Amino acid sequence: MSGLLKDKVAVITGAGRGIGQATAFLFAKEGAKLLLCDLDQKPLDETISKIKSNGGIAEGVVCNVTKKEDCENAMKTAASLGNGSIDILANIAGITRDRILHTMSLEDWNFILNVNLTGTFLCIQAVTPYMREIAKEESKSGKIKTRSIINVSSISARGNIGQANYAASKAGIEGLTRTVAKEWTKFNITCNAVAPGYIETRLTQVRKDTNDFGIPEEQKQMVTMMQKQTGLAREVGQPEDIAKTILFFASDLASFVTGQVLTVAGGLIGTI
Ligand SMILES: NC(=O)c1ccc[n+]([C@@H]2O[C@H](COP(=O)([O-])OP(=O)(O)OC[C@H]3O[C@@H](n4cnc5c(N)ncnc54)[C@H](O)[C@@H]3O)[C@@H](O)[C@H]2O)c1
Repeated sequence: MSGLLKDKVAVITGAGRGIGQATAFLFAKEGAKLLLCDLDQKPLDETISKIKSNGGIAEGVVCNVTKKEDCENAMKTAASLGNGSIDILANIAGITRDRILHTMSLEDWNFILNVNLTGTFLCIQAVTPYMREIAKEESKSGKIKTRSIINVSSISARGNIGQANYAASKAGIEGLTRTVAKEWTKFNITCNAVAPGYIETRLTQVRKDTNDFGIPEEQKQMVTMMQKQTGLAREVGQPEDIAKTILFFASDLASFVTGQVLTVAGGLIGTI
């Protein structure tokens, strides 16, 4: 442990799997006190027990980020770990439901906008008393402490076939990120986003008939081939690749960086 987040209180949504889970493991290793949230209890519990067995500090709350009360409850619980203050919010929960535009129902559209974009908005609003208001009070006594919010966009924010709903939600997250950065910079709160490329998680597995998420076999093969050709010598990115970037934005290494969206896609830049 190098202690980059020593004693910082961090909330991570979507922490039961994939990028959220990898971020939770890395944050714990760097000394953060964690409040982990996920829709699903079982993977959340597994993540927490693994962190605890390695000597880390983590509690969990089942939370649907589309529900205002769930978000408020999660932030209240997190604040109790930090004497009323939260240092880091990583909004990682997200989902896909891909359809070609002319077959996309209003329900498909609303579902994705709700989870990815509204969920991020609701978590930021719910953290306000424990981040913005606390920082405002602290500044009166001359205390300066950096806090950070990290959102997750995607390279699909630039548009991607079959992902009108997802692309719009992620482009929305980028606008939200820059707005929060501008509004909260005076309180020393940074807000940045990571835009991952193809990362090996549940969302990029070959789609099973029982699931709405996942990608077709041919698409997976095409992306794997493109990734190989770009020269960064791995087939697809791993959740840890994104977790490391989120750690950078969460730590004091990035205390003078705000309103940025960083693409983390190996060599897959400009090809998709
Ligand atoms: N995997 C990729 O290639 C990729 C690329 C770009 C962006 N992303 C983004 O990264 C983030 C994490 O995705 P992942 O690939 O790790 O997927 P994942 O499915 O492995 O993990 C996502 C987690 O979010 C949780 N979640 C879903 N809906 C939720 C809700 N309403 N409330 C609370 N938790 C909820 C799930 O239960 C799951 O544990 C998402 O925002 C996704 O859009 C992923």
